Amino acid sequence: MYEFHDEFPQEPGLCYLNHAAVAPWPKRSAEAVRRFCEMNVTYGARDYPDWLKLEKTLRERLTRLLNAPSTSDIALVKNTSEALSFVAFGLDWRAGDQVIISDEEFPSNRIVWLALAAQGVEVIEVSLKGADPEGALLAAFTPRTRLLAISAVQFASGMRLDLPRLGQGCRQHGVLFCIDAIQQLGAQPFDVQAYDCDFAMADGHKWMLGPEGLGVFYCRRSVRPTLKLHEYGWHMLEHAGDYNRQDWQPAHSARRFECGSPNMLGAFALEASLSLLDEVGMDEVSKRLEERVKHLTDGIRQLPGATLHSPLSSERRAGIVNFSLAGWDNNALHQRLRDEQIVCIQRGRGVRLSPHFYTSEHIIEQTLARLTQATKG
Ligand SMILES: Cc1ncc(COP(=O)(O)O)c(C=O)c1O
Repeated sequence: MYEFHDEFPQEPGLCYLNHAAVAPWPKRSAEAVRRFCEMNVTYGARDYPDWLKLEKTLRERLTRLLNAPSTSDIALVKNTSEALSFVAFGLDWRAGDQVIISDEEFPSNRIVWLALAAQGVEVIEVSLKGADPEGALLAAFTPRTRLLAISAVQFASGMRLDLPRLGQGCRQHGVLFCIDAIQQLGAQPFDVQAYDCDFAMADGHKWMLGPEGLGVFYCRRSVRPTLKLHEYGWHMLEHAGDYNRQDWQPAHSARRFECGSPNMLGAFALEASLSLLDEVGMDEVSKRLEERVKHLTDGIRQLPGATLHSPLSSERRAGIVNFSLAGWDNNALHQRLRDEQIVCIQRGRGVRLSPHFYTSEHIIEQTLARLTQATKG
């Protein structure tokens, strides 16, 4: 088994529990970027063909992570929001069409649909608070429903949804299925084919341990031609690189969503980060993450005055533990934890902790000890 702490030489005493926001890089990603910088300084882009090979490897890794049928089904994008916008502003809406989302979505997966109001699109926000959140989402479908857009894992509560069930419901009703995957991809296995989704997207800076500004967009092959394109350039052409050619058409592959030069710097970093997840394996990553989330959850439950806002069952949770403490304002608690070197964030109804598979048990123990102190004033 890999020596994880070698890959994450974080400041001693730092308890990094903020992977659901922006993750630290593994050492190998920093080394890849350093290598890229040195190559640029010394040789410029002389070895560009090698860079393209690395970019191809990145696409293969992302394709496996999503279990997409082929690398031609994914595009490299700027971030989750860009991919969501490709869908929202690519579909041919009719006035009166409905989009179903939950009432807990991160703004990226809410605003983009609300922005369609000018086209007569209605957004229905469904509460996930009941005993059967998937049932509630599916029950909201009407003959006017065109699309369900949902986060695989809700960013504040950390609640994970039953994606195969939602996918099946969408298929039965002829509704398009769009998954904001950023809070699951890299934390737990993901499978666009098992979920039967039309679209899935995520940026690399959370559970994939990459930099900000490079993400992935999966688009089902049969749906791809129905998305109207809004960005054009040399790279998205079927015959990209044939610069003398006068006739043109968008690439048949998802490269049609990549208008121009790639984010090669980001590709070096993300490829290295994903190589680590590949070595560990997503089953092992998710098993180790679940152990750490359970440890934190069990510890917090025992604290006097603690309220958990995250699910308790392992089927429902992913990498997020959200809680509050009686007598503590969430802001003040968050500030105290940060002062004690616990990197976390305030989200939703409480303070959000998010370890990753490599987080040491010592860090979990230390965090719980500091929380115990906080309950004493
Ligand atoms: C559910 C969810 N979607 C999207 C994002 C971020 O979107 P982007 O990749 O566009 O920055 C976040 C970040 O916190 C998130 O939690």
